[in-house]
Amino acid sequence: MTTKNFWKNLADSGPIVALAPMDGYCDSAYRQLIKTIAPETIAFSEFYSADGLVHSKTLAPAVLPHAEIEKPLIVQIFGKDPEKFAEAAKIIESYGVAGIDVNMGCPAKKVVKSGHGSSLMIHRDTAYRCIEAMAMAVSIPISVKTRLGWENSDPLTEFCRWLENAGANLITVHGRTYQQQFTGKADWTAIYELADSIRIPVIWNGDVRDYADGMAKKSNLAGFMIGRASFGNPWCFRADAHVPTLSAVLDTMRLHTDFLFQTKGRKWMLEARKHLVQYLHALPGAKSYRRALVSVESPEDVDRVLMTIRTDHSDTLDMPIPGRDTDSVLRAWEGYTA
Ligand SMILES: Cc1cc2nc3c(=O)[nH]c(=O)nc-3n(C[C@H](O)[C@H](O)[C@H](O)COP(=O)(O)O)c2cc1C
Repeated sequence: MTTKNFWKNLADSGPIVALAPMDGYCDSAYRQLIKTIAPETIAFSEFYSADGLVHSKTLAPAVLPHAEIEKPLIVQIFGKDPEKFAEAAKIIESYGVAGIDVNMGCPAKKVVKSGHGSSLMIHRDTAYRCIEAMAMAVSIPISVKTRLGWENSDPLTEFCRWLENAGANLITVHGRTYQQQFTGKADWTAIYELADSIRIPVIWNGDVRDYADGMAKKSNLAGFMIGRASFGNPWCFRADAHVPTLSAVLDTMRLHTDFLFQTKGRKWMLEARKHLVQYLHALPGAKSYRRALVSVESPEDVDRVLMTIRTDHSDTLDMPIPGRDTDSVLRAWEGYTA
């Protein structure tokens, strides 16, 4: 079992490179895939409702069991009730999860309206009590993922010091405000200042393209998280700047399909359609392969599309797909509000 020093020890031993929590994406299959390709990555889950984990008989057994390769797994939750958070934390701990992350950054209307996510940035007493209750309830570390503030003028450091005093062991900051949602470019100047002002490690998130990009901007931070740039590009976490051949990309699409098939039950197909199309950016003929991928109904259908690509591109299978444009992948999410 991990201790409260988990994040501090990780930060001391090298940069923390993490898969950002993403609803609808960071399920067990995706985490297993990322950890197979880039084993040093710390995987965060999608977010789950603290109340749901406590009250639903089916949620915890459906989302908390995880494979050995996903460890140390961090599970993210949202809510607003300190007692529910504490109870949910105990349930999560009982599944051998390494750490719990609390969402204080989601800007989605329905989340904020219920007093969850970003809303906790302006309900600081509640935020404090939630972290304090969890920190006392479990021995695994508690972290918080938040934004620069509700709006630009908000004092990020004051808020994060507040969370540190409540018992938080790590802070991740997405370099946009609540008001910005997903628009504009992520800004990390305030995050550098924050890292100099609190004792617990700080990692930054927002628009990181890959490991090299993260390291170039890391400065005094403990590390960085990558979210959207990992779609169809799990290699982005690797320190060796590995660029896969087309053949390796196709093998990875099959592996991703296997993980989904093993873990998702009947839902695997919809998930596969969503993920697989993202691997083919910049591949000549991608449009027609995507059309075929969004209607696959069995792993054999996936195999058939992959075989077509292998035949069509037989002379370039051992070469990387030329010119993946990560900026366009990030731009495609402008205006996204979850
Ligand atoms: C589809 C999607 C789902 C997301 N779900 C969550 C979530 O469950 N919890 C969370 O803290 N952030 C969530 N986010 C925000 C990401 O974790 C991250 O902060 C954001 O995408 C910026 O990082 P990036 O530029 O590396 O993608 C989500 C983002 C996307 C695109």
